[in-house]
Amino acid sequence: MAANLLLHDDQTITLRGERFRIYLDAKQIQERVHEIGRQITRDYDGKRPILIGILNGAFMFLSDLMKSLRMDCEVDFMKLSSYGAEMITSGVVRELKKTDADLEGRHVLIVEDIVDTGLSMQYIPDKMREHAPASLRTVTLLHKFEATEVDVPLDYVGFRIRNRFVVGYGLDYGQVGRNLPDIYELDPNGADQPAQ
Ligand code: PRP
Repeated sequence: MAANLLLHDDQTITLRGERFRIYLDAKQIQERVHEIGRQITRDYDGKRPILIGILNGAFMFLSDLMKSLRMDCEVDFMKLSSYGAEMITSGVVRELKKTDADLEGRHVLIVEDIVDTGLSMQYIPDKMREHAPASLRTVTLLHKFEATEVDVPLDYVGFRIRNRFVVGYGLDYGQVGRNLPDIYELDPNGADQPAQ
């Protein structure tokens, strides 16, 4: 199988023929994740929150965030309909996997990798309220604020970012690129030459 990912240097990569350049490096990401972790540890003092990761993109952020919490906490997952292989949203949100945990009376923290149009983050709390949690908060690593079309309740935001396509640290382009420890943005200077 031909490789999708070409690492050029510290700053640029090619993924599925598109050139990307570094946007947030792993150190910046880790520092911010730990800041949020400290804040959540303070805010949930004496409580035992359950973190609900939204698959697939949130798995890496969720993992690092959870490791930074200094308290008892639990984890579960839900999965919504995917955007598929392309760079734009379909505009339709469906639940593909429900949470397994009993969330009644629990302190629920929804964990997202990115809020784009906001449709997913608008849908999830509505769904969660059906379970009657004791409290409900949201955290997202990235908020593409210029693209957000609906009111979304965001309690913790890692980075507010401009309206550009990003990949890495859990975020994909056609299911590849999630393993990158840094986050890259699409380079507006266009597509690369095919790999030799
Ligand atoms: C991405 C991301 C969020 C959602 C945000 O998921 O993980 O869940 O899109 O977009 P929105 O604000 O426009 O709703 P995606 O459906 O691409 O699936 P993935 O997490 O498996 O990559």
